Amino acid sequence: MSTIIPEIKKRSDYQQPDFLINHVDLEFTLAETSTKVICVSQVTRNGLHNRPLILDGEGIELLSVHINGIEVSNYQQTENSLTIDTDSNEFELRIVNIINPKDNSSLEGLYLSAGAYCTQCEAEGFRKITYFLDRPDVLAKYDVTIIADKKNFPFLLSNGNKVDSGELPDSMHWVKWSDPFNKPCYLFALVAGDFDLLEDQFVTQSGRTIALELFVDKGMLSRGQHALDSLKKAMRWDETEFGLEYDLDIYMIVAVDFFNMGAMENKGLNVFNSKFVLADAQTATDEDYFNIEAVIAHEYFHNWTGNRVTCRDWFQLSLKEGLTVFRDQQFSADMSSPIVNRIQNVRIIRERQFAEDASTMSHPIRPDEVIEMNNFYTVTVYDKGAEVIRMLFTLLGKTGFLAGIKLYFKRFDGQAVTCDDFVQAMQDANDKDLSQFRRWYSQSGTPKVVVTDSYDPSAKTYQITFEQQHSATFDQNEKQDLVIPIQFSLLNDKLELIKLGDAKQQQKMLELHDSKQSLEFKNIDSKPIPSLLHGFSAPVKLDYPYSQQQLGNVMLGSPDEFARWDAGQKLFSDCIHDLAGKTQQQQKDSINQTVAMFEPIIEATDISLALKAEILTLPSFETLFQQMDTVDIDGLNQSRKLLFKALAQKFQNNWLTQYSKFEKQPYAYQANQVEQRKMRNLALKYLTLSGQHDVEQLLIEQFNGADNMTDSLAVLGAAQLGDLDLFEKLMLLFEQKWHNDPLVLDKWFALHANTERPDILARISMLMGHSQFTINNPNRVRALIGTFSFFNVSGFHNIDGSGYKFVADYLIKLNEVNPQIAARIITPLIQWQKVDKVRQQLMQHQLMRIGDTKGLSNDLFEKISKSLP
Ligand code: PHE
Ligand code: ZN
Repeated sequence: MSTIIPEIKKRSDYQQPDFLINHVDLEFTLAETSTKVICVSQVTRNGLHNRPLILDGEGIELLSVHINGIEVSNYQQTENSLTIDTDSNEFELRIVNIINPKDNSSLEGLYLSAGAYCTQCEAEGFRKITYFLDRPDVLAKYDVTIIADKKNFPFLLSNGNKVDSGELPDSMHWVKWSDPFNKPCYLFALVAGDFDLLEDQFVTQSGRTIALELFVDKGMLSRGQHALDSLKKAMRWDETEFGLEYDLDIYMIVAVDFFNMGAMENKGLNVFNSKFVLADAQTATDEDYFNIEAVIAHEYFHNWTGNRVTCRDWFQLSLKEGLTVFRDQQFSADMSSPIVNRIQNVRIIRERQFAEDASTMSHPIRPDEVIEMNNFYTVTVYDKGAEVIRMLFTLLGKTGFLAGIKLYFKRFDGQAVTCDDFVQAMQDANDKDLSQFRRWYSQSGTPKVVVTDSYDPSAKTYQITFEQQHSATFDQNEKQDLVIPIQFSLLNDKLELIKLGDAKQQQKMLELHDSKQSLEFKNIDSKPIPSLLHGFSAPVKLDYPYSQQQLGNVMLGSPDEFARWDAGQKLFSDCIHDLAGKTQQQQKDSINQTVAMFEPIIEATDISLALKAEILTLPSFETLFQQMDTVDIDGLNQSRKLLFKALAQKFQNNWLTQYSKFEKQPYAYQANQVEQRKMRNLALKYLTLSGQHDVEQLLIEQFNGADNMTDSLAVLGAAQLGDLDLFEKLMLLFEQKWHNDPLVLDKWFALHANTERPDILARISMLMGHSQFTINNPNRVRALIGTFSFFNVSGFHNIDGSGYKFVADYLIKLNEVNPQIAARIITPLIQWQKVDKVRQQLMQHQLMRIGDTKGLSNDLFEKISKSLP
């Protein structure tokens, strides 16, 4: 490993800032390699002390420093700071500096995205623009002037309201913006470029008219409508559900092609990865439409949960992200199918969050130690964070939860606060002691809830016992008991619900807070089957010794749709895990037995088509992986395929029926169409796998006849799954059609990266030379290299180590271009804990190679150093 060890920052070391900045006047003169920035800050000393002012800055060429109009030179510069000694308690600080957007490939600070200037400041990117107090608890009002060439940059945008503009000599022009709200610098944004503009309006519940402006690449106007519609839905929903109204007169969204993440909630000026804005039937799938609606809503909801009330320090990131993800999940559920949404949320937790908690990157939703903040935009902070908020919602009820939210805004509007402040508001508004609940914020790891029960036929009593178990994680040895809400019900053997308790309620909620708690039910006529963890009421692993029969019963008879799906998933995963070590005949028998359990689901009429499709979908390899302590990669992959194929063959007639049953309508993103496409394309996958003789015909017909991307892509996916030669032919056609459309081509890159063919590495290397591929664009890199490392099980985990080496070689290059993306893509390589010893060594060897790279970024250093023994 490299020898210079970067600084570890600790949550417990938090100190108030020594100085505050309450007003900022920024002026940008944009030029590709030398943009001039003038930053005039009104600074006040915070408290009684005589410490100097220490500003953050990175890669900045300093021209001058003035205090109260007088140039000073008694400052010291380091790699990442500027220290200014002054006796004044209140002064105006003027800094003039130069930055180079063109050479900024990190996509943090000010950079160029396909010819347009844009900024990304969260978490600590503002320091790449000018010297500043780059921390979220320094809140200021911003006035921003942008000067640029008018022809190439007709639109000059920043936060807040446009207050003035004018012309300059040499065909230059300027625009001035003023944001009336206090904000931390991570919410600052600037965009300059030439775009197509989609305009609309929104009238708030109190009657104010808001101008909505969506900026997209030239020629993409027709692909912006869905995003704009989604925005209006989100604005309305936040008013009706949370009583929260938009606060500025204008809301702008800009779609850019080069972006590290999904999108950014800069005040009044969201910047989006174009992947989460642009959609039409030809180029976007149903899933894309869904994601756009969700991300648009997510960023909009941040205006209150994130911007009006923000984070005191970055350890509190889940304050805004957990809460905002919870809000966008509730919104999405209201816009379409709640159960399909919930299943999707749970998949993310089980596939990725459980994996993170089982790895050397394990951390609580409020981390304690950080080297590179960009490494903590994680599924733990975001998605487990949202689960923690959801548990509060469950424990307090909707009314109680909303009362807590109301108090939170009353207390903290305009401030930078902590997760504890949030929980305290919930506690005070509900008069409920949440001190034990708070441990969810400080404790990492996936709890296990072990359930046992016993029935006494003579006394007609049933006892059920819940025990919480916690094991050490890489970051924490000591664990404490948590508050775990467990929603459940009991079924009798006729699959009827047993009434529980006096209120004649049929669903119970147990608040498990002790390490072990039992409940006893009287007058129970036969041994009940428990249906547990309804709606995934807590992010835990559940352990109850279900028989296959009992799981079948829960799948068919539970009142909770999530529990039904989950029981089906457990039937599948039990079957897959049990195949190891069996003879072929035994494998056949047990597969047949499992598959037969799903016969009634095929026939079922009491569930939606969408849920049916979910139940008939096998758990992913990643989910299965997380269910085991040690994984035989090849064995698991094989077993999953065996069951997949058996389902295909056993229900071949059904797949054919499902495939041909629905009348095709012209594409619309509409609930009933979406679920029909989902079922039809699932059926197509199974048909392809079943070896159905004329399936190639079906595939070709659908490919040629499709009026939308969902159906075209489904053909490619199916042909790939079935390992058909047709796959290569259709891929060629697809490329010919879309080679000028990088966003569409990403789907094609990803499919290639996921093929299970021996030539996979040669294939990827060749694609890296494709005219649309560039290491500078995160979407391309994620599609090709990310898909390979995250999802191509046989290629990445090839026992000869070639997959690991390939990814490591790439990361060594990417480290120089974009450390943030490199640190994301290294994830599968640091998750070696469950694989066999041979692979563990191969993976660690590659991690060491990357670790020895000259100029290793903090991003990669943090992940690698934690991961190596
Ligand atoms: N704050 C953004 C979101 O969740 C994510 C983000 C983080 C974007 C850092 C860019 C950089 O909505
Ligand atoms: Zn967010």
